[in-house]
Amino acid sequence: MTEQFKMDAPATARRLDDMAQGLVGAPLDRPEGPLKVSGTATYANEWQVEGMVHGVMVRAPGNSGRVVLANREAVAQMPGVLAVIQDPRLLRNPAQGTANQAPIQGPEQAAYLGQLIAVVVAEEFEQARHAAQSLKVALENGEVMPVDPATAAVEPQEAKTLDQGDLDGAMAQAAFSVDVTYTTPSHSSTPMEPHASIASWDGEDLTLRGSYQMLKYNRNELSDALGIHPDRLRILSPYVGGGFGSKLGIAPEAVAAAIAAKEVGRPVSVALHRQQVYEATMRRSETTQRVRLAADAEGRLTGLGHDARVSNLPGESFAEPVLQASHFLYAGANRKMSMDLARVHRLCAGSVRAPGEAVGVTVFEGAMDELADKIGMDPVELRRRNIPEKDPESGKGFSSRRFREALDSGAETFGWADRPGVKERREGEWLIGYGMASAARVNVLMESQARVTLMPDGRLRVETDMTDIGTGTYAILGQIAGDMMGLPRDAVDVVLGDTTLPPASGSGGSWGASSSGTSVYLACEAIRKQLAARLEVEEGDLTLKDGMATFDNQTRSLSDILNGDEIAKVGHVQPGDTSEAVRQATFGAYFAEVAVHAASGETRVRRMHGTFAAGRILNAKTARSQCLGGMTFGIGIALTEELAFDPRDGHVANHNLAEYHIPVNADVPQLTVDLLEERDDWANPLQAKGIGELGICGAAAAIVNAIYNATGVRVRDYPATLDKVI
Ligand code: MOS
Repeated sequence: MTEQFKMDAPATARRLDDMAQGLVGAPLDRPEGPLKVSGTATYANEWQVEGMVHGVMVRAPGNSGRVVLANREAVAQMPGVLAVIQDPRLLRNPAQGTANQAPIQGPEQAAYLGQLIAVVVAEEFEQARHAAQSLKVALENGEVMPVDPATAAVEPQEAKTLDQGDLDGAMAQAAFSVDVTYTTPSHSSTPMEPHASIASWDGEDLTLRGSYQMLKYNRNELSDALGIHPDRLRILSPYVGGGFGSKLGIAPEAVAAAIAAKEVGRPVSVALHRQQVYEATMRRSETTQRVRLAADAEGRLTGLGHDARVSNLPGESFAEPVLQASHFLYAGANRKMSMDLARVHRLCAGSVRAPGEAVGVTVFEGAMDELADKIGMDPVELRRRNIPEKDPESGKGFSSRRFREALDSGAETFGWADRPGVKERREGEWLIGYGMASAARVNVLMESQARVTLMPDGRLRVETDMTDIGTGTYAILGQIAGDMMGLPRDAVDVVLGDTTLPPASGSGGSWGASSSGTSVYLACEAIRKQLAARLEVEEGDLTLKDGMATFDNQTRSLSDILNGDEIAKVGHVQPGDTSEAVRQATFGAYFAEVAVHAASGETRVRRMHGTFAAGRILNAKTARSQCLGGMTFGIGIALTEELAFDPRDGHVANHNLAEYHIPVNADVPQLTVDLLEERDDWANPLQAKGIGELGICGAAAAIVNAIYNATGVRVRDYPATLDKVI
């Protein structure tokens, strides 16, 4: 039996505050953590499937033209080679869930340099790799295609245009104003585990062991790419070594493995190597963002503008949503926003680590710092003054928002009052500066299902195709179920990552824990009701703890009450129309101290603090870890991260971990995180909002603003590498 629930009104039951077991919110360890760090967890490419052979993918050497495999026959004769496959289905670009779109350039046309256009299959991996490297790929009748967003054709995104009041007038009359343009480069998700799939067919049924974030959607994408019914397809993804957006949609290796396994009649493993991950999975679009701010003499915004240019391949609909938080973060009556999408032949642009806000809030918060500097006002005070009472565009209220408290508490914890003036503090050769920025991220609830079974022995089993991409799903779902059923965490088995289980929200957009957690909550609530009915008491009068039920002054064990039966329920949550009534988002504030070397311009982040509010915190440890990770990404965005394209052909020049600079341990100083208590009745029955990506959304600006405070140099071209700082 399925418990349906549509979230279209406040869910005011605060029962998770009162659960006797006390698991929700506790900083419990991730149960799969030891498996992952000890090499015991089996990742996609580590399964040993009987009879398995190996496929290695081959890239396009240019960004247009018909793909021709010049020496195909010779390669097919190489030792161990079983097949050389060039299939039009490989050329559909499924990297971002767009597998149901038409092929980008035509069935045999390459669209970007590095696109994976063929797969070579051999008995041994080394044979396949050697044969793949020997394959000569030509592109016939290729043309010079645009790869630079500055010169490519652009399509205005009419639906993203906002024009409220008179911004030009507000700018002209402003006591203080800024009109600045910032740029941010492309980013790569850079998960530790490369994309890999093992496909095995049993007749017309396909099993794919892969590494993906959203299995329900991934199954549909793959079925669409292959032209088979989703019911014939099972995806297993029990452990995922990071996704960061790049595994939201299926990547080329999944399609290649499936096609190859069918053709050679044996299971085929295809793993992308690191360079292919950088070249052929997905990127965050680079952005050019103009921000206009008009303020009165007291620093109150009278108008704001945010105009952005982003890019993607021809035919791809995704446009990095950089304006997202600009719509609600600050007040200001006169508002203008717009977005252009440039069509370039670079790899597909999609969701990378907090798409939109990661670079949108970051740039906006740089402009706010510039305004504070012009006014001569404390940047924290400027933000405080411009917190809107209601959503400034729709007039709706906020479902919950501890933004002001995050600013104040964060400033206090960090010691913001000691901040130096611009270029005022020096320690030997190092210039010291403080910077801050606001954090904001939209909150989303997604449809999700889970089955929970209370076993005759009193143990509990939670089953869903939800994934754990390192974020804590195994821990959190066990905590929610344990609390609801009054069982210690180790009496709950959580089974994830298998599309034969009830379909979940998947992990993405910071919605995973709250959406899949709600489905578990609903299933448990239904089980509690059934237990209560058996005992002929009201469900609310039932206290469950440590496997015992207390009611009417008596206590009995769950296994005794079950008397050999099991109770299984499916919880099914669907988002309702709450967004028509309220604005839902998460908020916070970052504070950073940097030291900039006076001679070299090298920036070291010395310490960084974040205070965040995201509704109920489901696990204090995993939530904090997400924020620490987010702030670490912020350090990368601020100082080092940049996917570098050859301006002639769009070649990704730094396609490896050595040259694509995400922060390493030595780059990350003491980070501290405070999470404010909050409950959001409009979010879901858990009263929890998404926290996964909040720590990224603006973090880099705190660092770049601190560089300004230290040096007087305003870097508007991310990342703030030393050549731009000196
Ligand atoms: Mo996230 S970029 O939605 O995995």
